[in-house]
Amino acid sequence: MSSFVLAIDQGTTSTRAIVFDHDGAIVSVGQLEHKQYFPKAGWVEHDPAEIWNNTREVIGSALSKASITRHDIAAVGITNQRETAVVWDRHTGEPVYNAIVWQDTRTQDIVDRIADGDPHRLADRVGLPLATYFSASKVTWILENVAGARERAEAGDLLFGTTDTWVLWNLTGGARGGEHATDVTNASRTMLMDLRMCEWDESIAAEFGIPISMLPRIRSSSDAFGVASDDSLLREVPITGILGDQQAATFGQAAFEIGEAKNTYGTGNFLIVNSGEEIVRSSNGLLSTVAYRLEGEPTKYALEGSIAVTGSLIQWLRDNLGIIERSSDVEELAASVDDNGGVYFVPAFSGLFAPHWRPDARGAILGLTRFATKAHIARAALEATAFQTRDVLDAAAADLGTTLAELKVDGGMVGNEQLMQFQADILGIPVVRPVVAETTALGAAYAAGLSVGYWADLDELRANWSEGSRWTPTMSDSERERRRGEWSKAIARSLDWVD
Ligand code: G3P
Repeated sequence: MSSFVLAIDQGTTSTRAIVFDHDGAIVSVGQLEHKQYFPKAGWVEHDPAEIWNNTREVIGSALSKASITRHDIAAVGITNQRETAVVWDRHTGEPVYNAIVWQDTRTQDIVDRIADGDPHRLADRVGLPLATYFSASKVTWILENVAGARERAEAGDLLFGTTDTWVLWNLTGGARGGEHATDVTNASRTMLMDLRMCEWDESIAAEFGIPISMLPRIRSSSDAFGVASDDSLLREVPITGILGDQQAATFGQAAFEIGEAKNTYGTGNFLIVNSGEEIVRSSNGLLSTVAYRLEGEPTKYALEGSIAVTGSLIQWLRDNLGIIERSSDVEELAASVDDNGGVYFVPAFSGLFAPHWRPDARGAILGLTRFATKAHIARAALEATAFQTRDVLDAAAADLGTTLAELKVDGGMVGNEQLMQFQADILGIPVVRPVVAETTALGAAYAAGLSVGYWADLDELRANWSEGSRWTPTMSDSERERRRGEWSKAIARSLDWVD
């Protein structure tokens, strides 16, 4: 038996390859950022060719840093930024347009057209409200706006995929016969999959004007997706796991039981609560989505609270305001003041996602006085992450009729001690970080490793989870409520902006 599993994590800002050992510990990491394109207000694109090149490079660097070759890799798992849509020519492998990223809001008109006055019109079937966030309207936009694309799609020459599918297709041979597939978790984010059947809903695809021939085959999350092609450093290694990144993090946190949850702090924040074999329909602005499906087993579902902007707000402070040099500098700047000085920051850059689903909301910094400094703004930016998380946790509690006893966290921002303490304070429950906080890649590795018998079962994965850090609330109830009240007023202002 080979000694390691390799996970490819194709994220919103970077692509990583991580080699894991049998204990779920990280052996080596290769990582490359890719360029973010913002051609117009609200538009966000990536270059699919750059993403694929970076994927190849990071695989090479992860293998070489670990001083291993493909013979040491038992299986490959892929995890990815979800919803981001790539459309390419099946004969040449050439994308017909840049990838349209999940944060992109250009398709509001298409969404409004299909919603026909009721954004929840398709929610019973797909678990999602009509919103620019999901893949379908992005594909429609490409077919309607790229010259010749519709004809080529109807002739069967174009393929669609989220970035897992794009990486899989290229890794397994591309135009020379690459596998065109995705897993149930990614398919559940397109707005085109019947959530109960886990099959493409042909009538919804027709409403969006998307030919079924473009859509990848939907497989389980732990399944035989294909083997890496001859020209790959991973030649003949099986690809046996795919999960959207938030579901992968849930799997990596070993949240396999009903009611188990995790919150990931990435570009955005994503709370996922496992609902088992039951599809829970939210009355409070959460999404119904697939948690995972192991080959031959029933589909496991989840409730999700998606927050569009958290970590990317810190990048915005760095790139657009220039008040910090590196993202990690935000902690020191925010800690240089005692509190937020009365400043609140609602980062509604893509409108507001859960629990509001208001595309027209706009970002707002409120409570400014002559006293406020960049440190207060940095602090308010960090606090916005915690307040938004509290809002989606409250929505989950209302839907499930029960509150979480503690919150498992992971992702890039959980290294920020001040934020984690504030998060525990604002939630009023402990916040717990595992030893391996790279749960997204770990979850994809787990799905792949389970499929080839590298790990025997879920119990073995659960045994790998161990607590790294814990933050317990210290804020008084009255102080928490005062601050939440001010946050709610700031949210109301952001929602009112357009009216
Ligand atoms: O739904 C979007 C989400 O999958 C993006 O995750 O970690 O790349 O920001 P991340």
